[in-house]
Amino acid sequence: MRIDIITVSPELIKSPFEHSMLKRAIDKGLVEVHFHNLRDYGIGSYKKLDDTQFGGGAGMVLMIEPIDKCISKLQSERNYDDIIYMTPDAKTLNQSVANTLSLKENIIILTGHYKGVDQRVRDKFITREISIGDYVLTGGELAAVVLCDAVIRLIPGVLGDEQSALTDSFQDDLLSPPVYTRPAEYDGMKVPDILLSGNFPKIDKWREEKAYQHTKNIRPDLLDE
Ligand code: ADE
Repeated sequence: MRIDIITVSPELIKSPFEHSMLKRAIDKGLVEVHFHNLRDYGIGSYKKLDDTQFGGGAGMVLMIEPIDKCISKLQSERNYDDIIYMTPDAKTLNQSVANTLSLKENIIILTGHYKGVDQRVRDKFITREISIGDYVLTGGELAAVVLCDAVIRLIPGVLGDEQSALTDSFQDDLLSPPVYTRPAEYDGMKVPDILLSGNFPKIDKWREEKAYQHTKNIRPDLLDE
């Protein structure tokens, strides 16, 4: 998989890809992540990227021309399955979207800033818009990192234990059941006997019940879906 991230602040988001799981996935050749500084496509000697909005109102809007130049250059080099725009005014990211994106060959992620991008960018280029939650960040960069993390860990071979992505919270629209490790008793708090029983069918059933109860208490909306 290849991910091209277009941003006005590449330095802000490079480091998460230099550590831990994301770095391992890149080192293993399972994913390539390329950063494109929108400033390189800015207009005139000042490399202008944004302007005030027509109709008045606070906040600057990213202009279409620099974004067009950057996306068109990338599109001239390869085909893209999806061109994604990170924005709070979109459907929220969920596990199903992450699963879908993990199967793509090439994607572009465009991150907004200020008041966002000229609507014509969205109309002309964007095939998918994603919010990471109902709150507004200063830019889409951190949202892009969240999306990349959620997607890249699902690429086969990225996680050491292949099972663990399958038993994540949300993979079956249920939150995860509680987990315990040694010691079996700490400060009078005991690990549930069932988990020490060695009876794996019973343990599976217990986990299912706990996951269901936890989901019902915390996120009943997931059960409605
Ligand atoms: N840009 C600003 N806020 C965002 C959000 N919540 N999700 C995605 N992109 C954003």
